[in-house]
Amino acid sequence: MAEDRTPVSENPLPAVADEPPWWQDAIVYQIYPRSFADGNGDGVGDLRGIAARLDHVCWLGADTIWLSPVFRSPMADAGYDISDYCDIDPLFGTLADMQALLDAAHARGLRVLLDFVPNHTSDQHPWFVASRSARDHPKRDWYIWRDQPNDWRAAIGAGSAWTWDAHSGQYYLHLFLPQQPDLNWRNPEVVAAMHGVLRFWLDRGVDGFRIDVAHCVGKDPSFADHPRCLAGEPLAHFNDDPYSHEVLRGIRRLVDSYPGHRVLVGEVNIRSTATVVQYYGAGDELHLSFNFPPLDAPWDPVVFRTCIREVDALLQPAQAWPTWVLSNHDNERHRTRYGGSLCRARAAALMLLTLRGTPFLFQGEELGLQDCVTLPHERVDPGGRDGSRAPLPWLQAPPHGWDGARPWLPFPPDAGELSVATQRARADSILHLYRALIAQRRASPALRRGSWEELPSPPEVLAYRRRHGDDVRVACINFSAQRQTLALAGQWQVLADSDGVPVPRRFAGELLSDQALLLQPVEAAS
Ligand code: GLC
Repeated sequence: MAEDRTPVSENPLPAVADEPPWWQDAIVYQIYPRSFADGNGDGVGDLRGIAARLDHVCWLGADTIWLSPVFRSPMADAGYDISDYCDIDPLFGTLADMQALLDAAHARGLRVLLDFVPNHTSDQHPWFVASRSARDHPKRDWYIWRDQPNDWRAAIGAGSAWTWDAHSGQYYLHLFLPQQPDLNWRNPEVVAAMHGVLRFWLDRGVDGFRIDVAHCVGKDPSFADHPRCLAGEPLAHFNDDPYSHEVLRGIRRLVDSYPGHRVLVGEVNIRSTATVVQYYGAGDELHLSFNFPPLDAPWDPVVFRTCIREVDALLQPAQAWPTWVLSNHDNERHRTRYGGSLCRARAAALMLLTLRGTPFLFQGEELGLQDCVTLPHERVDPGGRDGSRAPLPWLQAPPHGWDGARPWLPFPPDAGELSVATQRARADSILHLYRALIAQRRASPALRRGSWEELPSPPEVLAYRRRHGDDVRVACINFSAQRQTLALAGQWQVLADSDGVPVPRRFAGELLSDQALLLQPVEAAS
């Protein structure tokens, strides 16, 4: 890849009217730092490990990395419980390592997004230590204290969202673990302090943030009971108070005051696309919001068709740019979800990289990894999410590039066969398929930003056309175990085949079981 030594954040996009902002064209690669690569041999991935393996991301063709949290943390929730937002946890390295990683990424033309966790801190954060020290402490109101709990429930299996603090004689609110007390964003000092955190990282050149549970920061000020909580559902699954929008508008104004089109990607983990759209605001809240239904969708054409249609119907009128994601650190990997089928995972990759919207890849999906299997004594996460967090196998032979202490979680199944080195040597591997699809997406204005239109197809097949000016592509995905025919007017050639059969070749109007194809009109190709 050509080296661009200008940090992207100092290199704003040219002001061309119909040129989209960079994040619409981006292909984002989520790095889960504990499991990407180990630079110091302690069995846990770290910043130096990431810096040493950036070439993998560049070779693949992704242009943006998002790092799950690397800040100081007691690790009750694997770093989503932060005790210092402006320092790096020693497990991952130092502030100097982070600056070196930012510089190394920018030197390669890669943008870097950090994880911003605004809803809660760690209970070890000095702010909370001060807040719980006495009822009349000036920081008491930085968190949410009540004499009586309501029926709100916490996520990650934590039961009530309220924990009794015997020392100060009140309950504090936590929508996640008791070690993750919720900040009170209605207190202007909290807003100022958290804006200071954003400035700290923006000043160091980060290109934006993924905002953890962005829909949770505002809470119903009446603290009314909720029937869904009474029925056992965590509040974080549906919390949707108007005040969260005000918080996001404030963060957006701050981020927009920096040069270089910094981006905000929100985790609005509410399974209602109509509600999620609201978090784009009037172009003054999130730039992008995750779209979660595909994260637990089975390999089913009806489920995907419904979800894709809904995103198209609801986001277009709001001028909200979609995102697509199949796996992340909180959910089962999609190959595992699809019954372990590599064939389906390959077809899903073709869909992910040809839809209208920014694709987010989770590290290891390009290798076709499945969840690791853990024995009871190996389990780390209180929420049971270890499976997708397994270490990446870099080399075929054990310990797969993790020289030193045994990694913090077991490797995923078939780690040697699925390792980066093994798959790079095989032109028909899923790794090469991802790379080819990313190259196709980059080369095609239709795939990057064109319109999306569904085409008539048998019910087991999803087929759609992407178009931008004269540039046209068709993607078709067969979700069934049977051969399917697809009638398309005109002559088409296959540009990418999820089965790894060599391309280009003429499209014969058929799809094999669980096969997906990317097509281009023949006249355009000749
Ligand atoms: C988000 C994170 C998840 C974490 C939770 C609480 O959902 O993705 O890993 O446990 O927020 O911070």
